[in-house]
Amino acid sequence: MFARRIAVIGTGYVGLTTGACLASLGHHVVCADIDEAKVTRLNAGQIDILEPGLPELVAEGVAAGRLEFVLGARNAITQPDQPPVEVVFLCVPTPMGEGGAADLAAVQAVANEVRHLLPTNCVIVNKSTVPVGTAETTRKMIGRRDVAVVSNPEFLREGSAVHDFLHPDRIVVGSDSQEAAERVAALYSRLGAPTQLTDAASAEMVKYAANCFLAMKLSYVNALSDLCERLGADVVEVTEGMGYDRRIGANFLSPGPGWGGSCFPKDTHALLEIAKAAGMDFELVAASLSTNATTRARVVDKVRDAAGGSLSGKRIGLLGLTFKAGTDDLRDSPSLAVAELLRAEGAELYGYDPACPVDVPATAGITVVDEPLDMAKDAAALVVLTEWPQFRALDWTALAGVVEAPVVIDTRNLLDPDVLRRAGFAWIGLGRS
Ligand code: UDX
Repeated sequence: MFARRIAVIGTGYVGLTTGACLASLGHHVVCADIDEAKVTRLNAGQIDILEPGLPELVAEGVAAGRLEFVLGARNAITQPDQPPVEVVFLCVPTPMGEGGAADLAAVQAVANEVRHLLPTNCVIVNKSTVPVGTAETTRKMIGRRDVAVVSNPEFLREGSAVHDFLHPDRIVVGSDSQEAAERVAALYSRLGAPTQLTDAASAEMVKYAANCFLAMKLSYVNALSDLCERLGADVVEVTEGMGYDRRIGANFLSPGPGWGGSCFPKDTHALLEIAKAAGMDFELVAASLSTNATTRARVVDKVRDAAGGSLSGKRIGLLGLTFKAGTDDLRDSPSLAVAELLRAEGAELYGYDPACPVDVPATAGITVVDEPLDMAKDAAALVVLTEWPQFRALDWTALAGVVEAPVVIDTRNLLDPDVLRRAGFAWIGLGRS
């Protein structure tokens, strides 16, 4: 394999994983961030995010001299006494901006900063999720005939980002320059993954198309679980039966308190805006979002019913605050969205999460505690919101001893109802008969 010199701009989940994994594939990678304290921490081997395998990979890359961290994009691209960088990955945030469209300020800022510094024939790769047409806009912004722009969307799940990078279902590389697309695809050749070379706009669209489809799949399952409950069917049985159909697949069929995280909410809103700007009302995506809101409200209905018809002044214990298990990320967490709705009805919230997230926003109104027993004390109901497997092993008999009313609303269908019943709890799942 041909080892390339690569700059990665942005060291969030995507950038840091990309940098560390590319270094592990043998490339020379210099990662840049504008946060000086973060760069210092990274150089000292401290990783801020919870991502299995990442600290080891970073340490390995640094020890092998193939991975380093610098302050600012400029320093990553103009390294004195080093051969020129050949590929620059943009891994900066593209958050939801005004009205739901993706905010490209960070991409633009980096493009402006580096356009005159890029070595001849270097390739810019956009890894962030950006609206269709951004590769073209970036190309114009850079305004260099000798610099090609490539779209190479990431499909990393938080909590398994390193695994997903090293064992991808596919690699999508889009560019209007065949040579540039091939150079980027070759970076991954050791992975032996199916690789699709396409045009830039299609590559940019793949990411939205995939994420919105997954969000739609989950909204479908969540609505289905509601119907199952009404009809006396069991959603676990129903999704098992569906999952055997290879056209549907068994993954991503678990109902929950609504979907969230750093990607699905922003990508669904962004695709709606993209479609609107193109004169199209993408009703399926809009319905997936409204179904997600209904799903959250349905959880609140269940908690209210369990608490005797009113939440006012009731203590409610929340199990799980992160948007899914295996991460400490609270961004757009369904748990926090449900918490806000519960609090709006006057509930007093106590939350416990094994990842001990430190930045729980005050708006959620949750008192975060370190012990499950403190979370459960005097609770009129307990609500499982995140599918942490650790919750199965809690001492449910001890928890039953401290609650005001022994009832669990399990929005992930995570716990064993028999274990709960033996411990003295009434167990209420989602879509279970
Ligand atoms: C997602 C995509 O999977 C990934 O390809 C993309 O690059 C970024 O967005 P991530 O946000 O890390 O990854 O989480 P994911 O595991 O996909 O879960 C998203 C949400 O769906 C979470 O709130 C999760 O709890 C929920 N979910 C997932 C369910 O409710 N049921 C399921 O069966 C699966």
